[in-house]
Amino acid sequence: MSHSLFATKPVAASAHVDAGEPAEAGDLAGHLTLKRVLTARHLVMLGIGGVIGAGIFVLTGQAAANHAGPAIMLSFVLAGFACAMAGLCYAEFAAMLPVSGSAYSYAYATLGEIVAWFIGWNLVLEYLFAASTVAVGWSGYLNSFLHTISGWIGVDVAFPEALSSAPLAVSNGRITQTGALINLPAVAIVIAISGVCYRGITQSASLNTVIVAIKLSVILLFMGFSAQYVNPENWVPFVPPTNDAGQFGWAGVARAASIVFFAYIGFDAVSTAAQEAKNPQRDMPIGILGSLVICTVLYIVMSGVLTGMLPYTQLGTEKPVATALAAYPSLLWLKTLVEIAAIAGLSSVILVMLMAQPRIFYAMATDGLIPKFFSRVHPKYQTPYAGQAFVGFFAAILAGLLPISVLGDLVSMGTLLAFATVCIGVLVLRKTRPDLQRSFRVPLPYLVCPLGAAACLYLFSLAFADNWHWMSVWIVAGMAIYFAYGRRHSLLRGANLKP
Ligand code: ALA
Repeated sequence: MSHSLFATKPVAASAHVDAGEPAEAGDLAGHLTLKRVLTARHLVMLGIGGVIGAGIFVLTGQAAANHAGPAIMLSFVLAGFACAMAGLCYAEFAAMLPVSGSAYSYAYATLGEIVAWFIGWNLVLEYLFAASTVAVGWSGYLNSFLHTISGWIGVDVAFPEALSSAPLAVSNGRITQTGALINLPAVAIVIAISGVCYRGITQSASLNTVIVAIKLSVILLFMGFSAQYVNPENWVPFVPPTNDAGQFGWAGVARAASIVFFAYIGFDAVSTAAQEAKNPQRDMPIGILGSLVICTVLYIVMSGVLTGMLPYTQLGTEKPVATALAAYPSLLWLKTLVEIAAIAGLSSVILVMLMAQPRIFYAMATDGLIPKFFSRVHPKYQTPYAGQAFVGFFAAILAGLLPISVLGDLVSMGTLLAFATVCIGVLVLRKTRPDLQRSFRVPLPYLVCPLGAAACLYLFSLAFADNWHWMSVWIVAGMAIYFAYGRRHSLLRGANLKP
């Protein structure tokens, strides 16, 4: 029997699982598995930890200044809508299939092996590349903070330009050299956080909880103290008219939504911890949807405050929150706190992304689509340590060499494809396996799922128009690896080919 490219992996109805129980039977029976230790609070914190980062602290200002103006608030609503639809679908899947592979595993169960591979490959863009992207942003914030400290103490403790920026840049689609040697702080943070992830999920989740508490407190302080300086005149015109360069107008609001979509990425990483959740059936929806709701509200309010404090034309900086605060002498104390929160906040995003990627690889390796090496679990720490080391190594190289601009849109595009697939997958599984026990069900699935998929594919098309060449190279490379390795080693294929 020939093995169809669209063969699906059978889904077993998952029984209720408790802490300490083996995470997965079948493929891994008798092998070491990940351990179930995470609570609902851990999961909500992981979601917030993965979400609030470079998107709000770096990209919002540029998206407002170049595309949407004050209507950046609407861009956040639009991107948030797409994420809410996808979030509901993730919640249904993650509670029903509490495995580490997230969208990859959901696609394998519903749309077939080749689609699963395609999504797994795109999740590398989401998680591995996002960790590197955010590490580059982190390095920028750290160095600027070190410059501030240098001013206070009269000794220069900042990194020199050659050791804190990318040696490679991309202009007009060509790679050029900048003269810098390496982005050392970006490399260092990736290696340090990979070390924490290697040691254990409990340590990672606890560190994340502390960092999230710091960043949420500072964001609330920012909103509380800055609200009095909001001048509603800065919100007029709300949607600036389209200019000669084709910027702004309603098309600008939509383009800005595809940029700030980056700010929402991360809530889905909660689903990669499903295999380590104590009570995934109950807690996965709480973790995914709880973190998404909290972040959406914070983003809309924060972008409103920012554009109310300064005319949007002045927000197009690398650090829009600090820029807005710098305009008000009475808020200067808050500026330093915001810088500290950004440094902390970006590190938790790196942590969640670095934690998620090896778990996707773990799932792909247990299916045979990538080498078994990635399914090794540490005998003491019970983490996918081999994949963790591999991911840390590559993320550090990317972070050390590439600038943030190249990476950001690719991350969003990979994620949007995964989200669209998950939305479609929910409908497919409702049809093919209506018998499966679902502890959380997407409401109005025939409305929510198609709307979610359409919104994600629409945002994808906006980013694809500007980056189609990079994305095409990525997709072709992924398919080549699938046919050269994945398809030939697939355990499902092996089982199907048995006489
Ligand atoms: N949502 C994450 C961030 O904005 C990726 O940094």
